[in-house]
Amino acid sequence: NLEVSLRPQTLDEYIGQKTLKANLSVFINAAKQRNEALDHVLLYGPPGLGKTTLAYILANEMHGNLKTTSGPSIEKSGDLAAILSTLEPGDVLFIDEIHRLPKQVEEVLYPAMEDYCLDIVVGKDSATTHSIRLDLPPFTLVGATTRAGDLSAPLRDRFGITSQLEYYSLEELSQIVARTSRVMNTTCEEEAVKEIALRSRGTPRIANRLFRRVRDFAQVYNDGVISLDIAKQALDRLQVDNLGLDRVDHKYLRGIIERFRGGPVGLEAIASSIGEEPSTIEDVYEPYLLQIGFINRTPRGRIATHKAYEHLHISYQQDIFE
Ligand code: ADE
Repeated sequence: NLEVSLRPQTLDEYIGQKTLKANLSVFINAAKQRNEALDHVLLYGPPGLGKTTLAYILANEMHGNLKTTSGPSIEKSGDLAAILSTLEPGDVLFIDEIHRLPKQVEEVLYPAMEDYCLDIVVGKDSATTHSIRLDLPPFTLVGATTRAGDLSAPLRDRFGITSQLEYYSLEELSQIVARTSRVMNTTCEEEAVKEIALRSRGTPRIANRLFRRVRDFAQVYNDGVISLDIAKQALDRLQVDNLGLDRVDHKYLRGIIERFRGGPVGLEAIASSIGEEPSTIEDVYEPYLLQIGFINRTPRGRIATHKAYEHLHISYQQDIFE
């Protein structure tokens, strides 16, 4: 399965996130030596940086199975209990968007994480209702969220390992694109690898998606050979600019600059003016624009910086009458 082989299987194959990798390697080895499950891991950061991939790797390195689910898909505590009861020793349970777990479900998770046990309430009415305690095998919970701050403090405190994933450097992204090109058996010029990496806004998921689309153009126009020229043409046609900004980024920045005089503007106002969900803007688009210094977040709202004006070729004029 290509989808799976595109994902690295071991920590060694995983590119980037150097500090996290080195630490995880120690924790994995120590847990294995003690014959224990790895402590629970909380991964946070923007989407597409490899949180799910890391969960796969952790399960693989611990010789366990990976079970995946997500916060919004677990509606009742019974849903979570059903998943927990399928776990075997050393398994990894991956909960994506863990900040969206309902409160009652979260409470089932506490004893499961702390004592590997499950408290189930049984009985039909208040006279007969009581809870029974079921033992769970030692397992590792890997939680993923875009913002650690959205997690309740009691949940956050129960993770022994917490780490923020960071945007990838150009060098790291180039290595990932080169690897993808090998896995997909394509010929991709070194400069084309770099061009795709440049326009992937520090994000492996975007790099791999752009790579597939560029490969389509190469197949139709260039006998499958991904040259720099084909890569540039394809990326231009995909409307991804030379900094990796797409149509939505452009609409967003132009919105702030043209409709709100550069800001400050509140998240809700800018999101609705360009017809996007505030949460998508906040979790997907803004983190990278903040990272490259195109916007600032102030208590009064978002501001476009002179860098953004320059990139969009709009002259930057401070409003001297305010
Ligand atoms: N594919 C997606 N993310 C990756 C990473 N961090 N290392 C290697 N391959 C990847």
